[in-house]
Amino acid sequence: MHAARRLVLEWATRLEFSALERTKLVTAASELGRNTLVHGKGGSMTMSELMRESRVGLQLVFEDSGPGIADIEQALTDGYSSGKSLGLGLGGARRLVNEFEIASTPGEGTRVTVRQWKRR
Ligand SMILES: Nc1ncnc2c1ncn2[C@@H]1O[C@H](COP(=O)(O)OP(=O)(O)O)[C@@H](O)[C@H]1O
Ligand SMILES: [Mg+2]
Repeated sequence: MHAARRLVLEWATRLEFSALERTKLVTAASELGRNTLVHGKGGSMTMSELMRESRVGLQLVFEDSGPGIADIEQALTDGYSSGKSLGLGLGGARRLVNEFEIASTPGEGTRVTVRQWKRR
């Protein structure tokens, strides 16, 4: 997980994201990466550099083939946790990024996509 955090931080720094944008994305990545490992039983994070209407962004996709999430709304609810972590969780990660998408199928796995856009 530390490797993913470091990679996101390095890339966001290289693209000259502000300290705030960088911190938000790294914190979200940390939560989502932990979920991929702990709940999803391992998986992958794919990072892509985006350009949309001359704006620069970073996209992170977390994918696993774990048990999936039966009730996504509940999982996004603040304070909801099947474990005992004190982190911001899924709902916190959603608030930290500009765009957040989650797709999950019980028995198949989970994919969370986040995007952060650099301020012009
Ligand atoms: N990748 C995942 N695969 C399966 N379940 C997940 C995944 N991510 C989150 N969840 C479910 O959503 C709940 C809420 O996640 P989160 O807010 O991060 O809390 P926590 O990780 O502390 O339990 C988890 O307890 C778990 O049940
Ligand atoms: Mg979590």
